Amino acid sequence: MPSQSLFINASQIVTCAGPPRARRGTELRDAGVLTNTAVVTVDDRITAVGPEDQLQRDYPAAELINCDRGVLTPGLVDSHTHGIFGKPRFEEQELRAAGLGYMEIARQGGGIHSSVRDLRSRDEDELFALALPRLKRLASYGTTTVELKSGYGLTLDDELKSLRVIQRLQNALPLRIVPTFLGAHEIPLEFRAKTSSRADYIALLVNEMIPRVAKEKLATFADIFCEPGVYTLAETRTILGAARAHGLALKLHADELQPSGAAELAAELGATSADHLAAISEPGIKALAASQTVATLLPGTMLFLGKAKQAPARDLIAAGAAVALATDFNPGTSPTVNFPLILTLAVSQLHLSVSEAVIAATTNGAAALGLASETGQLSPGFSADLALFDIGDIRELPYWYGDQRCRRSWLRGEACHG
Ligand code: NIG
Ligand code: FE
Repeated sequence: MPSQSLFINASQIVTCAGPPRARRGTELRDAGVLTNTAVVTVDDRITAVGPEDQLQRDYPAAELINCDRGVLTPGLVDSHTHGIFGKPRFEEQELRAAGLGYMEIARQGGGIHSSVRDLRSRDEDELFALALPRLKRLASYGTTTVELKSGYGLTLDDELKSLRVIQRLQNALPLRIVPTFLGAHEIPLEFRAKTSSRADYIALLVNEMIPRVAKEKLATFADIFCEPGVYTLAETRTILGAARAHGLALKLHADELQPSGAAELAAELGATSADHLAAISEPGIKALAASQTVATLLPGTMLFLGKAKQAPARDLIAAGAAVALATDFNPGTSPTVNFPLILTLAVSQLHLSVSEAVIAATTNGAAALGLASETGQLSPGFSADLALFDIGDIRELPYWYGDQRCRRSWLRGEACHG
């Protein structure tokens, strides 16, 4: 017998239905905010969204799930995290407060390098045990789909170790986890010793790491930190070209701190997303708007780094780019798993409307993972991925900032949180 569930008594159902393109929503109804509405799920799928009294008549045998006047949304889709790491890096926060820049800390062997040293010293079981409670906490804020990157290993074995931890987490948690290979997160220090040797690390990425990751089917995406001082545009082209040739879809950390043409390259390569973009140029905005590449914005990162600058979200939306939001959860620049807090920042720092922010965290987040027709919407045919919040109006989600309002969530019709 298929298992039917009927979600009733919600104060609002927020469907986020529609195609994952530019959504110039400035009004709440643009996110599909419905009242007196119920949702039907059968096994792992949403099968109906419609008037509550009618659906109660149509599905008399369904199990009733009482939303108790809360707000029901699609499960949130966090499309950019670095959730596989060992120790936190709280000491860098004070260094930055004292005036040292993020890149300066990295140049001195801290930053990503410090997480790399730490991750290399830990085994798979230890990394799994550290990631598990962090991801449970992430789910407790309403996220049901999360992307996880490797990128603190930077050797073949340490990157494979990180990706295997992700694989184990996929089996251990009721979360949809999308794995990304980020072997090009940095040039490891041992390859930075001589200027000639960075080419050796790139050769390792192209000739050994990418083919092995693809062969073992350990990642859906390949990502790179394309930024002056890290990987150049030409290196990015080489590395992502190899990744694409091995069947990996592409993501880029693009124009995070300085504009370098990385967003334009993302569009040219047909990347699924270009992420960060706080320093994107006018041609970069135009290139993304003319492409299928999702512009993923990470306002928590700029806030945590103490930067006044944020990505030009309004310009991106006005130009027609599809904008997604994500936490960028990582030990260096964004140690938060609280996705609703990122919605607060999207409204207060990026000047998004609530409907734009909610769509960016659901429909467009799914598009940033190539999952636009699978999750991120309460629409018939979509996966039964839902989050129920203890609020009476969706505008309260970014309003009670920093709060934990998710009461329950479901992935593929099964309990995810609560
Ligand atoms: O998305 N920009 C590069 N990568 C991460 C930071 C990683 C770190 O500092 O550990 C980011 O901000
Ligand atoms: Fe990142």
